[in-house]
Amino acid sequence: MPVIAVIGAQWGDEGKGKIVDMLAEKARYVVRFSGGDNAGHTVVNHLGQFALHLIPSGIFSPQTTCVIGNGVAVNPDVLLKEMNQLNQRGVDTSRLIISDRAHLIMPYHVLLDNLEEKLRAARAIGTTGKGIGPAFADKAARLGIRAGEIIDVDGFRERLRVILDYKNAILERIYGTAPLSFDQIYRQYSEFGKILKPYIRDTSDMLLGLRPDEMVLLEGAQGALLDPDFGTYPYTTSSSCLASAGSLGSGICSNKVTGILGVYKVYCTRVGGGPMPTELKDETGDTIRETAHEYGTTTGRPRRCGWFDAVAARFSSRINGFTRIALTRLDIFDAFPTLKICTGYKLDGNVIDYFPASVSALERCQPIYEEIPGWQSSTKNIRKYEDLPLKARQYVEKLANIANCPISLICVGPERDQTIEVRPIL
Ligand code: GDP
Ligand code: IMO
Ligand code: MG
Repeated sequence: MPVIAVIGAQWGDEGKGKIVDMLAEKARYVVRFSGGDNAGHTVVNHLGQFALHLIPSGIFSPQTTCVIGNGVAVNPDVLLKEMNQLNQRGVDTSRLIISDRAHLIMPYHVLLDNLEEKLRAARAIGTTGKGIGPAFADKAARLGIRAGEIIDVDGFRERLRVILDYKNAILERIYGTAPLSFDQIYRQYSEFGKILKPYIRDTSDMLLGLRPDEMVLLEGAQGALLDPDFGTYPYTTSSSCLASAGSLGSGICSNKVTGILGVYKVYCTRVGGGPMPTELKDETGDTIRETAHEYGTTTGRPRRCGWFDAVAARFSSRINGFTRIALTRLDIFDAFPTLKICTGYKLDGNVIDYFPASVSALERCQPIYEEIPGWQSSTKNIRKYEDLPLKARQYVEKLANIANCPISLICVGPERDQTIEVRPIL
């Protein structure tokens, strides 16, 4: 039973949603294992274009069960709206299951996320404002409320009272804002519990009874460079984005994971604050943004664009242990006469080839570029590797050498079928 993790290899938005939607045609389960509705996964298939935030991108495949794993922080209000929107467009969401161990995003998490950002002022992280940081902080502080708790009305009442007293003290005494109403939250979340009850259960037993040929996909959110341990901390998200989180956040033990597919864009983007050594604050950056329509799926913010960063890419491949890579958005470079790859950084007068842990060091890193000729012809309708222009093949082979990993898939457009299968994902 192949278990394959699909992981963002950069700063998120690499095209994980597209890859998962495509692979899900052959999957028994697709499991989201981290993050929350900070994620925005765009899927374009025979049913139209969709922006998913919490629901796994396998939802369009009728034989696939979609799981929101224990590692996800779930805002039930957002989830129900997303389910309704999909239902209205004819997508069946009855095959969704939610781990009873998944933490819930509560109204005070969203409030505190935005208040904390204001307090950070010039050093704001640029969060999505969805309450992600405060929710995962509460999980670690043992102040979280889990999905399984809102279906036990009495237990929930007691837990909420203790936690809300504490949160209201912070809201009133630190931020000087009005306290939140216990009755209102209790009523609202009990109602969510009633509606979501049929979906909430222990999801850690997924592999039991699975046939050897049935595949499980672990759908990553965000990207390795937003990981709180290995990313550009503190400009990161608050739950792990790495392949190793795939087993922890799903309950599938790590020795069952058989493949790790790293998803890279052929350039870099980042949304929000924090260092990005290859960022282009010039016309070339604008050209990438406008050609690729690089605007956030969740917040609509313009994404910062830059050349492919080999230093960051090598680091991300190593810490994730990619067994295959997928390259997306090759078509965006179709008209570019030349491309650049950042092969090293100049830091305080020295050339380095590693990705520094320190944000202040990263902010001082100047990219060193290698220039590469573009192919200047359309790749959008190409479906076979050997039909790609020679210069495009040379470019992607360079990226594969950097990631030290064979290419499985190359995407040449947003549609499910705008994909070149170079070799199997396993
Ligand atoms: P995710 O968060 O990793 O799922 O990525 P997003 O959905 O936030 O952003 C990726 C964007 O690129 C989406 O709008 C996709 O439809 C689009 N996309 C994915 N692959 C390709 C590709 O090869 N070419 C083009 N032009 N767009 C792509
Ligand atoms: P997908 O799954 C890109 C960024 C935010 C911010 C930082 C922290 O679509 O790739 P948070 O709200 O998580 O506390 O914000 O992380 N961020 C993302 N950037 N893609 C995402 O998800 C992201 N999820 C969070 O912009 O810089
Ligand atoms: Mg996204």
